[in-house]
Amino acid sequence: MSVALIETAREFKDLCAEARRDGPLGLVPTMGFLHVGHQSLIRFAAQRTSTVAVTIFVNPTQFGPNEDLARYPRDLSGDLKKCEEAGARYVFAPRNPEEIYPPGFQTYVDPGPLAAPLCGAHRPGHFRGVCTVVAKLFAMSRAEQAFFGEKDYQQLAVIRRMGRDLDFSTEVVGCPIVRETDGLAMSSRNAYLTPDERPRATALSLAIAAVQDGYASGVRGVASLEALARAQLERAQLRLDYAEIRTAQDLAVPGEANRESRIFLAAFLGKTRLIDNGPLVRAES
Ligand code: PAF
Repeated sequence: MSVALIETAREFKDLCAEARRDGPLGLVPTMGFLHVGHQSLIRFAAQRTSTVAVTIFVNPTQFGPNEDLARYPRDLSGDLKKCEEAGARYVFAPRNPEEIYPPGFQTYVDPGPLAAPLCGAHRPGHFRGVCTVVAKLFAMSRAEQAFFGEKDYQQLAVIRRMGRDLDFSTEVVGCPIVRETDGLAMSSRNAYLTPDERPRATALSLAIAAVQDGYASGVRGVASLEALARAQLERAQLRLDYAEIRTAQDLAVPGEANRESRIFLAAFLGKTRLIDNGPLVRAES
């Protein structure tokens, strides 16, 4: 069946209600300019639910004043093809932001301490915008399950918490990071990288590998492990935003690194801000 483009909130709500009568609805919220990572979310959703709805909305409330809202890459016709290929039934791409934020809109979802460190500290207001739009998409779709990538690990944790705290019936499902063959985590923002910058972007996955090697060889000090990550980023001349070891569950700073810890990274390569994260213990291959 081919994918159907929906441009209004009214139609999105009606079609989701109709789809839910046939079985569980899966929601894949995105900001578009889709890549193989998004397609893996759609495929995940298609395996677990009977209808998949993808949303494409470059959400203005999650961008800071000096961020890339205006230049965020867009390609609706390419996105529709990728959604169809991966098994989506509906694509909700609001024809204008008022479909999500109608005139007079004034109510926001304010996340708690999980949203404070890492990207929350470096992008004030970001997770408030994310939670607000995701809450709206959950309420509009009333999907049984919603799928988010672990590349945005903190976002996943914040949304999961929001779902519990606000009693959304939508189950939040996390999906593994999809990487390019050289290790770079897939991201729409990778499109900003110049040919000269692109090879240097592997510094993030190399930094994760360096931390994992350090942990495997017995290093447990949080500062020492973070220094291993920073060294990789500096070697490739990325500008560090943060390199922090945190617990996977609640993103707290552990006294000492352990199996439940993760390394979280954000760095600028030219004007492009890249993020990545990984466990301290490599997954068995
Ligand atoms: O991860 C994203 O692309 C966005 O933050 C999301 C979840 C679609 C909300 O705008």
